[in-house]
Amino acid sequence: MNHIELTDEEYEKFCSLIYRVAGIRIADSKRVMVGNRVRRRLRATGISNFARYYAYLTSPAGNGEMPLFLDAITTNETYFLRDTQHYDWLGDVFLPEISQQAALRKRPKCLKIWSAACSTGEELYSIALTVIAKRPLLAGWKITLLGTDLSGAALAAAQAGSYDARAVRLIEPSLRQKFFDEDRQAQRWIVKPDIKVLVTWKQHNLLLPLGDNLCDCIFLKNVLIYFDANSKQTVVQNVIDALAKGGYLVIGPTEGIYGMLGSLNKLSPWLYQRPT
Ligand SMILES: C[S@@+](CC[C@H](N)C(=O)[O-])C[C@H]1O[C@@H](n2cnc3c(N)ncnc32)[C@H](O)[C@@H]1O
Repeated sequence: MNHIELTDEEYEKFCSLIYRVAGIRIADSKRVMVGNRVRRRLRATGISNFARYYAYLTSPAGNGEMPLFLDAITTNETYFLRDTQHYDWLGDVFLPEISQQAALRKRPKCLKIWSAACSTGEELYSIALTVIAKRPLLAGWKITLLGTDLSGAALAAAQAGSYDARAVRLIEPSLRQKFFDEDRQAQRWIVKPDIKVLVTWKQHNLLLPLGDNLCDCIFLKNVLIYFDANSKQTVVQNVIDALAKGGYLVIGPTEGIYGMLGSLNKLSPWLYQRPT
């Protein structure tokens, strides 16, 4: 079973299924990657070939398999404080700004930040650490920190909050000691319970509206690289609809959506603001 390869037809079928369900347009050059990742699911389900697996996956009986298939297909690479300038802005500009607005009674003492496509949680926990460092500015505030992703497995890892040394490498040692319990034997860093209670996780496909309270800031990073223009447009509209007036959108370097953000004010190559 390990040696069978995807035929052209099978490859096309899996790619168009991935596109329909997740919006991800797989490049032709990714055939080996797709084959290897689907093969993992063949092994896990004990199904002997790609055609049978596809039939199972797209049948009513395969409903439970779809999330596991998507877990296997998606790329979850992430780490704490990725693009440190985003967190510098969050702590040094954004939080003081909203704190001042609340002091002038120009906004309620409510803050909602959404890490859209949060993967295994490093992005949202980095946001949480930044918010905690500025806690005196936010005394008495209702704070919601939401992380969403398509992948249930990634969200389970986010909830567990246990990371290897590579994931936490950019966090200063003193902060690492403060915010994590170190399991020296397993060489893992585990997010402390008082940080975990600040964050909420939810499975969500960015091709659908979030349908929730509006956000003051949204991180949308390193997810749209594989999406085609149509899917990007859908995601961008859903994200803009989830942004409060005056709210900020932080995007990653590879999103490729600059031309789609016309209704927002561009403050820098990675920072956009919804007009008030
Ligand atoms: C490379 S990670 C990015 C993590 C984090 N934002 C960062 O920049 O470090 C991309 C994530 O996007 C998620 N993803 C892919 N397609 C998605 C979709 N249609 N809706 C929601 N999440 C999706 C994947 O499951 C994966 O966890």
